[in-house]
Amino acid sequence: MSKSHITLSKSSNLKNKPESTSLGFGRYFTDHMFKVSYSVKKGWYEPQVTPYQALQLDPGASVLHYGQALFEGMKAFRMQGGRCAMFRPDFNWNRMTEGAARLCMQAPPKDLFIEGIKALVKIDKDWIPSEKGCALYIRPTLIGTEAFLGVRPAEEYLFFVILSPVGSYYSEGTKPIKIWVEEEYIRAAPGGLGATKAAANYATSLRAAQEAKKSSYSQVLWLDVNREYVEEVGTMNVFFVFDNEVVTPSLDGTILGGGTRDSVKTLLQSWNVPVVERKIKLAEIREGHKSGRLKEMFGTGTAAVISPVGELAAKQWQIVINNNQTGPIAARLYEELTGIQNGMRPDVFNWMDWID
Ligand SMILES: Cc1ncc(COP(=O)(O)O)c(C=O)c1O
Repeated sequence: MSKSHITLSKSSNLKNKPESTSLGFGRYFTDHMFKVSYSVKKGWYEPQVTPYQALQLDPGASVLHYGQALFEGMKAFRMQGGRCAMFRPDFNWNRMTEGAARLCMQAPPKDLFIEGIKALVKIDKDWIPSEKGCALYIRPTLIGTEAFLGVRPAEEYLFFVILSPVGSYYSEGTKPIKIWVEEEYIRAAPGGLGATKAAANYATSLRAAQEAKKSSYSQVLWLDVNREYVEEVGTMNVFFVFDNEVVTPSLDGTILGGGTRDSVKTLLQSWNVPVVERKIKLAEIREGHKSGRLKEMFGTGTAAVISPVGELAAKQWQIVINNNQTGPIAARLYEELTGIQNGMRPDVFNWMDWID
């Protein structure tokens, strides 16, 4: 399906755009959306950019009963000089495709995914903020729409994309955040959905995150099913700096492999900073803090970019990392990554995909 097949219907009622200082995360939506449907009989059909509007769903739609829902999180940036580009959309397409296979869903082909998003971002490109730390967040979503109550994979799907201009993910901005080590609930178990961006994983996570927030922690650090190894933070992958080595949990099926995580590994390798993927015991982090080997901890994610962690706490203990300051590795990664995304630094890995 080529992009010339995407029909455009412009909104006649454009919204007022918010001030970039009041953006926060995910509060505002742009004027348009992209959508395309799939059925076993027709394949993918009627790709269209339309005014942002409510969806029409049959109450029997499989997403509402058996949770066939997957989403992605990406960003588009206004680059130095005014042109616009997205960061690594192929990574997100790949992850959605792998998630769709696990949930027995039909993922859109790569061309349709990328050309649909480009057509949408292009029409709403005045919504891309240009201030440092701001971007246009892109939310591609895939849901089962077939009205049928038997428990089996749906034969009809809707892929849609909405956009939201965003600022900083955390109210702390780029200052270190506080993370709660979750010892009661778990996010994922071996053999489950943890490696996918299934909506179900976020439903699972809400209770722990809500309890952590009540105690003024930004997010939780998930542990494995035996509460022994660290996995990831609510919406970020995690990295630890032990002496001069950077360590991140290996992807064993329970962790969502992030595009930011992958980019951070690539950047560190290009700087000849040793970076290792392996299992990391919670006890090793506490011992590393005691001995002074633990220099930094930070999270990585599309929304949060690079987020230093200044405090880690559980029911029985609490540690302050790097005097609650942003460490040199997190700071360098933040500058480099946002520099590439804003066109201030050379894009040597070809991560930016031009929209116009
Ligand atoms: C659970 C979880 N882990 C990790 C990440 C980081 O992934 P990415 O860097 O692709 O945004 C996210 C955010 O999307 C997430 O929700």
